[in-house]
Amino acid sequence: MAQAVVTGATSGIGRAIALALHGAGHEVIALGRNRAALTELAALGLRGVAVDVTDAAALEAALAGLAPDVLINNAGMMPPMRHFCDAEPADIDLALAINVGAVLKLTRALAPGMRARGRGHIFFTGSTAGHAPFANLAVYCATKAAVGGFAQALRLDMAPYGVRVTEIVAGRVETGLYNDLLSAEARAAMYAGQSAVQPQDVAAMVLAVLALPQSVDVARFDILPTHQAGATGAAKKES
Ligand SMILES: NC(=O)c1ccc[n+]([C@@H]2O[C@H](COP(=O)([O-])OP(=O)(O)OC[C@H]3O[C@@H](n4cnc5c(N)ncnc54)[C@H](OP(=O)(O)O)[C@@H]3O)[C@@H](O)[C@H]2O)c1
Repeated sequence: MAQAVVTGATSGIGRAIALALHGAGHEVIALGRNRAALTELAALGLRGVAVDVTDAAALEAALAGLAPDVLINNAGMMPPMRHFCDAEPADIDLALAINVGAVLKLTRALAPGMRARGRGHIFFTGSTAGHAPFANLAVYCATKAAVGGFAQALRLDMAPYGVRVTEIVAGRVETGLYNDLLSAEARAAMYAGQSAVQPQDVAAMVLAVLALPQSVDVARFDILPTHQAGATGAAKKES
């Protein structure tokens, strides 16, 4: 049974991918901090591991002995949406630590095993915010641009060893990402009328990409709500 490690598996996109991989027969190691959510996943047959990805020692301990064929680098956060001049230094540090530092460290820990075994697939949950500017999101955009740059360069390093790398360029997905940033009403409005992709749609794409022959690597895929169309929006329908 192929082993898969999924970060941010306790909610949203990561949870949907973890469940889809489990359903497809993978042994899934689900990482996150939310112990109640991890217990729920364990009841479904996944192996839940409680870890804060910014805790380097805890992360190293959590990964000890693992030899995954699939790594889903998905854990991430969005710092408060505000003008960059008003950004708190602590929010900048945390966003860099979770969205970039932990991603590189986790990959550094598990990619050598894939290189040695001559197989594996590493996914990164990037964002349209890594490829287009959004006002009041400069720090988040910077972290997701870093993820995109890292994923594409890593793909070149790993390709000679038969290890595939895929960047998931996600537009708006209905998850808990904005729970601490927006009111429930604002979130409901943001996700109204099929204006967001569902986490299970992203998971379906991950399974489809994994199912392609080993000789094929989807370097990145963009997944957006139909009406979003482009990173920063769609033209209005003519009446
Ligand atoms: N939703 C969107 O519109 C959208 C669009 C593009 C990209 N993305 C990206 O998709 C990824 C998943 O986000 P989501 O939308 O599914 O939001 P979410 O529901 O808030 O999920 C975020 C996940 O990251 C985990 N996480 C955050 N900080 C962590 C830490 N310090 N240590 C360990 N785990 C941590 C959370 O787990 P715990 O709470 O259990 O720690 C949670 O499982 C993120 O990288 C996000 O940037 C989202």
